[in-house]
Amino acid sequence: MQQVIIDCDPGIDDALALEYAIKSTELEILAITIVAGNAPVDIGVNNAFKVLERCERLDIPVYRGSEAPLKRSYVSAQDTHGMDGLGESGINRQSQVQPQEVPAEKFLADFFVKKRTVGILALGPLTNIALALQFNPELGRNIQRFVTMGGTYKSHGNCSPVAEYNYWCDPDSAKLVYENLGQLIEMVGLDVTREIVFSPTILEYCRRINPDTHDYLQKITQFYFDFHWEYEHLLGCVINDPLAIAYYIDPEICTGFESYTTVETESLSIGQTLVDRYNFWKKKPNTKILETVNTKAFFTQFLTVLLDAPEAMIASDLNLLQLG
Ligand code: RIB
Ligand code: CA
Repeated sequence: MQQVIIDCDPGIDDALALEYAIKSTELEILAITIVAGNAPVDIGVNNAFKVLERCERLDIPVYRGSEAPLKRSYVSAQDTHGMDGLGESGINRQSQVQPQEVPAEKFLADFFVKKRTVGILALGPLTNIALALQFNPELGRNIQRFVTMGGTYKSHGNCSPVAEYNYWCDPDSAKLVYENLGQLIEMVGLDVTREIVFSPTILEYCRRINPDTHDYLQKITQFYFDFHWEYEHLLGCVINDPLAIAYYIDPEICTGFESYTTVETESLSIGQTLVDRYNFWKKKPNTKILETVNTKAFFTQFLTVLLDAPEAMIASDLNLLQLG
């Protein structure tokens, strides 16, 4: 079992990723830190508690992080995730559990003041990570792994022709982390996450296997389905963050290459990941860029955990389902 801290901006796909990580027997979630991104930070905190309540894991501490990017003004993605950050699903919390007193960035900086066999899974803008790195420049050398959902190599952006939301929302933090972490950055970008489409067929399959979970999944993804149809005429929704969880658990699920990468912080291409695959800048690789994903392996792992169903049955059924 690998110990991780998940930094996220719940957010529909973050919520799915959190539930997957919490229920997986491969991961032990030591803490959840929240950053402003898909929704304002306090809505993100609230949504994290909704997931913890649903998973009966309110023992996992939640830390409230940054309300805004390092320099840019904050722009949410509530057009995509709903004003409540969970697809206007209207899900309420029963518990009154509050986040920890210590701000997320201070918690992260202090926790990694010495070497830990603990990794960070970053599913949102990198503001908390950048602030923690400013407090503790050794942070990167003291974490076991750093996996971030963000960026894109060859696939088009989702906030501009070239920029993916997490790094577009806070490009200065992304640049600071990419250029100063001092630990290999495993980038789960749009090149691979766009292959992970939670389709109406898969949703209907969930109904057949676990009706209660299906009802929850439908409630929180309907808004996301509508967004994808309106903007891309895609039937279903791209669930980016759960792939970062699956990849952390089983890196074999994706293939990629190492390269020096940094992030553009100005101009029309603000937020773009500049992947120097052919080493024009003669800099040491700092990133593993993921290029391909085994989609069937992902959905087998993801649905086995989320639907609490036998893996062999899921694997066999997925051979018959049209995943695309
Ligand atoms: O661009 C997709 C990413 O931005 C996902 O992590 C989504 O949750 C948002 O944070
Ligand atoms: Ca996210």
